[in-house]
Amino acid sequence: MWGGRFKSATSPELKELNASIHIDKRMYKEDIVGSQAYAKSLEQIHLLTKVECAEICKGLEQVKLEWDNGKFVIKDDEDIHSANERRLKEIIGNAAHKLHVGRSRNDQVTTDMKLWLKKAIAEIENKLKTFINVMVNRARLDIDVLFPGYTHLQRAQPVRWSHWLLSHAWNFKSDTDKLQQVLKSTNVMPLGSGALAGNPFEIDRFTLAKNLGFDSMTPNSMQAVGDRDYIVEFLFWASLVGVHLTRLAEDLIIYSSKEFGFVKIHDSFSTGSSLMPQKRNPDSLELARGLGSGIFGQCCSFMMTLSSLPSTYNKDLQSDKELMFGAYDKLMGILEVVIGTVESVQINESRCVEALTFDMLATDLAYYLVRKSVPFREAHHIAGQVVAAAENRSVEMCDLTLEELKAISIHFDSDVARVWNYENSVEQYQSFGGTAKNSVLGQIHLLDAWLATSNEIPQ
Ligand code: ARG
Repeated sequence: MWGGRFKSATSPELKELNASIHIDKRMYKEDIVGSQAYAKSLEQIHLLTKVECAEICKGLEQVKLEWDNGKFVIKDDEDIHSANERRLKEIIGNAAHKLHVGRSRNDQVTTDMKLWLKKAIAEIENKLKTFINVMVNRARLDIDVLFPGYTHLQRAQPVRWSHWLLSHAWNFKSDTDKLQQVLKSTNVMPLGSGALAGNPFEIDRFTLAKNLGFDSMTPNSMQAVGDRDYIVEFLFWASLVGVHLTRLAEDLIIYSSKEFGFVKIHDSFSTGSSLMPQKRNPDSLELARGLGSGIFGQCCSFMMTLSSLPSTYNKDLQSDKELMFGAYDKLMGILEVVIGTVESVQINESRCVEALTFDMLATDLAYYLVRKSVPFREAHHIAGQVVAAAENRSVEMCDLTLEELKAISIHFDSDVARVWNYENSVEQYQSFGGTAKNSVLGQIHLLDAWLATSNEIPQ
């Protein structure tokens, strides 16, 4: 491929380190589609005859078929670009040698990657939507379950289980929205940039981009061949999804412990212990937590690769594909498992309700006083005194008599009894975004509508 000026062959050690075929063969389709489109551009400017172009396109179709059927034999090939061209030459003969004119593997590789990533983005987007849909359905089904909401992992206020679940769904909705930005960066065609200086044959890049399904084309050939920002953006995006998955996983791991017992992870998403027969371990979620955090490691790794690289293409960049495929595979693998886990998780409603305690209504007691025109700071203080009084007497706040309450504040009246009701408490939060039933149903409606209108996945 580049042997003309060399006297001796590459050392076997370098050959081994340099070869990327076993990783980048995953882009064989994109490489072929890119070459077919490029051949058509060459034909337009008469660097290929109609016949040669047809031969090349047909030959490449056969190469694709061989890959599709697992028949492609990898020989002494460095990467997918050289492998496909070598095989094309074997099939159609010398016309194959005309294909690479004006093109370099530098603009070819990043074009292939962008074509691959665009498809991957569409697939992940679908997967995320499936996941959000599963969460929305669970939220609808379990709308009446109340349980403790936590801050600092301390019981804070009663909420609907669905409100908690949707708090995670909204994270993934926002991830899905952000993915559009990654797609935008990926949708810019680098082909026609050559090794670094551009294309000297008046290739019609506009038509080439259109034929390959890109939105636009790179405006600077030097930038184009060295640019991997779209990979960074994808890795960063995937890291954030990973982080969101770890947080959901962590909640469920805690909730599934015997101490909490709010949920039971289905058998098919739990594992046992080889030693302790009673064990039921949430491995599905622990894997999501561990692997989800790991994606950021890949993002950092690639940032280090890019940092201080000289302009344009350098071989350091070759590691980009492994990271891109790795992040995609990890994310899809985790999502599959987490989707199944959330879909099948069993809620222990009575444990959820039992975990609610009257001290969690101390804020409501303050709000009760506010509704009687007591300024909030004063109301907060009085409610705090009620908490202390109950603690001193080792009783629940609701067991304090009206006289005892009145001794703390004259604003207490018999209607204070209404405060000691978890359902009433939750139903106060009617305003947009709160945990009242209507508000949670509103969220479900919003997500349903979004899922229904965003069904068309951009390719
Ligand atoms: N296999 C290479 C990569 O993945 C393709 C580009 C090679 N370019 C070069 N000038 N050696 O980055």
